[in-house]
Amino acid sequence: MLPSGIAITGSGSAAPKTVLDNAGLSQVVETSDEWIATRTGIRERKLASPQVSLAAIATEAAQNAIAMAGITTADLDLIILATSTPDDLFGTASKIQAELGATKAVAFDLTAACSGFVFGLVTAAQFIRTGVYKNVLLIGADMLSRWVDWSDRRTCVLFGDGAGAVVIQANESDRLLGFEICSDGTQNSSLNLSYQPQPQELLPGVTVGLGSYQPVTMNGQEVYRFAVKRVPEVIEKALYRAELSVDRIDWLLLHQANQRILDAVSQRLKVPAEKVISNLARYGNTSAASIPIALDEVVRQGQIKPGDVIAASGFGAGLTWGAAIFQWGR
Ligand code: ACO
Repeated sequence: MLPSGIAITGSGSAAPKTVLDNAGLSQVVETSDEWIATRTGIRERKLASPQVSLAAIATEAAQNAIAMAGITTADLDLIILATSTPDDLFGTASKIQAELGATKAVAFDLTAACSGFVFGLVTAAQFIRTGVYKNVLLIGADMLSRWVDWSDRRTCVLFGDGAGAVVIQANESDRLLGFEICSDGTQNSSLNLSYQPQPQELLPGVTVGLGSYQPVTMNGQEVYRFAVKRVPEVIEKALYRAELSVDRIDWLLLHQANQRILDAVSQRLKVPAEKVISNLARYGNTSAASIPIALDEVVRQGQIKPGDVIAASGFGAGLTWGAAIFQWGR
């Protein structure tokens, strides 16, 4: 029998080299560093040039996580790629499997927008807890720069590109202490990257819908209200399942969408600011990548210690939201 607990044993991240700061962005749309920084906390974002693929930055993040975990790609049983911006709608995880040379692993994409990393963590845990797999690679990677309207200042200032990854392994002690994941499709229209079919008649009575995806649209205020209400709630539910009180949280690791959301959620939960991880000033909102990139930075700075309790929460399009309470390391 394999041990049925899970542990997160390695992290990694990668981001494109090109940096666009708010001053530069002010030359693209009518905005200012002052507006963006006070409303969001974002100062700059990293953007992928056309020749960089999502698979390439995801693979780099994965290699860093695998190295930290001290395993090899041949050990991997499963690769989950959380993304809303694959290189290929049929899925990009298999490409990453090939680039890593992880010949034993099965690989698939998982789409849950900015909640993708938390949904992926919970999914990975089920495969390990049931004894099916031992070593899982979870990647959160997105390139929303390819899907925003660069003339729409309400959305284009918010997003950046990047990838983060973790290795999740079977472990004697279970370090995933509690979780809760949620969806509410009735609010789906708040945030979309939707397909617009154009009718093409093949024969009389036989019409198909050939079309294309339209750039991201968002009702910012609705999404803001949703996040500051639902995120504290879902973290409290996950804590309840973990039988822990808020004061046991060592690190609050929220999806890096907006500093005002981080502040409002931490104030509502009464988590002091020094426990709140924030790197969105340098990355913007990297969607499914934001939680693992922020985690990896703090781990590599030596701030997160084995056994520290992390409350992670993702939220975004769907609408989807979720929280996972876990301890770092074995
Ligand atoms: N620069 C300058 N002015 C701007 C900009 C900009 N970039 N964007 C909007 N404005 C203007 C608007 O036109 C408006 O002007 P008006 O009053 O003359 O019409 C004014 O600023 C206020 O606009 P609001 O949309 O009301 O601004 P708000 O204070 O709500 O801030 C923001 C907008 C930052 C988007 C906020 O609503 C927010 O953070 N929402 C949450 C978004 C989010 O976190 N999404 C995460 C999920 S992402 C995912 O799942 C993929």
